[in-house]
Amino acid sequence: MIIQGDCIEELKKLPSNSIDSVVTDPPYCSGGFNESQKMQATGQGLRSETRKRDGWFICDNMTTGGLVWLLRAVSVEAFRVLKEGGSFCVFTDWRMYPQIAPALESSGFRLRNMIVWNKGSMGLGTGFRPQHEIIIHLTKGKTKFYDRKTGNVITEKRVSATKRLHQTEKPVNLLSKLIRVTTPPGGTVLDPFAGSGTTGVAAKQEGFDFILIERDPEYIEIARERLGEPALI
Ligand SMILES: C[S@@+](CC[C@H](N)C(=O)[O-])C[C@H]1O[C@@H](n2cnc3c(N)ncnc32)[C@H](O)[C@@H]1O
Repeated sequence: MIIQGDCIEELKKLPSNSIDSVVTDPPYCSGGFNESQKMQATGQGLRSETRKRDGWFICDNMTTGGLVWLLRAVSVEAFRVLKEGGSFCVFTDWRMYPQIAPALESSGFRLRNMIVWNKGSMGLGTGFRPQHEIIIHLTKGKTKFYDRKTGNVITEKRVSATKRLHQTEKPVNLLSKLIRVTTPPGGTVLDPFAGSGTTGVAAKQEGFDFILIERDPEYIEIARERLGEPALI
C-alpha cells in the first residue's frame, strides 16, 4: 500500500500492534556544520549538477531541533504501531547520530545497534572522505530476529547518479538485508519517509507486505511505477 501525506498524520491512522518492522530513511538535515549553514544548506556531498537538476528536496534544511521533534513524533507512532519484538531501523549519518538516537529511544524503544552502510568507495570531499552512512537499530520489547547472515557492517554500492530516481535513493539490496533480519516471513514493513519506494521494492522482492508513506506527489508516482501500482489521477 502506498499512501500520500504527512507521515505524522498518516501514522496516526494505522492500528496499534499491526506492523512487524519499520525501516526508514528520513531527511538527514546534515548539510551544514552549524545551524545557520544547515538552514541554507545546498550541499550534503551532492554534485552541483545534481543539485541544479533536482533542487533541494523538501525538509532537508531543517534545523537539528526541527528534525529531532519530527523524529521523536514518528518514533512515538512507530512504537505504537509495531508488534511486540518489532524493529525500528532509521538511516542517518555520523554527524546527526548523537542527536537522533536519543530522540528515537525516548519513546520506549531499546537502542540495539549501530549498523554501518559501507558504500565501498569514497565520496566527494577532503580529509577523511565519506564512505559510510549509519542505520540506527531499535527494538520494542523482547526482540525477535529472522536471519543470522548479516553483520553490522553492510557493504553495498551506492545507486549511481545516472540511475537514481531520488537524490538520496538507497540500494535495494541494502534494504533487503535490513528487512530480512527484522521481519518474519510474509510480515509487514512500514516506511514513513518512502521517497522513490526502495523499501517497498525490497519488501516486494522478498515476499513481504509493505506500507509506504511519502508526502511529495512526484515521488509517490515514481514509487507507484516501480511497484507496478496504477497511477493516481
Ligand atoms: C531521504 S528521502 C528517502 C529516500 C528513499 N530511501 C529512496 O530510496 O528513494 C526522505 C523522504 O521523506 C519525505 N518526507 C519528508 N518529510 C516528510 C513527512 N513529514 N511526511 C512524509 N514524507 C516526508 C521527503 O519528501 C523524501 O522523499
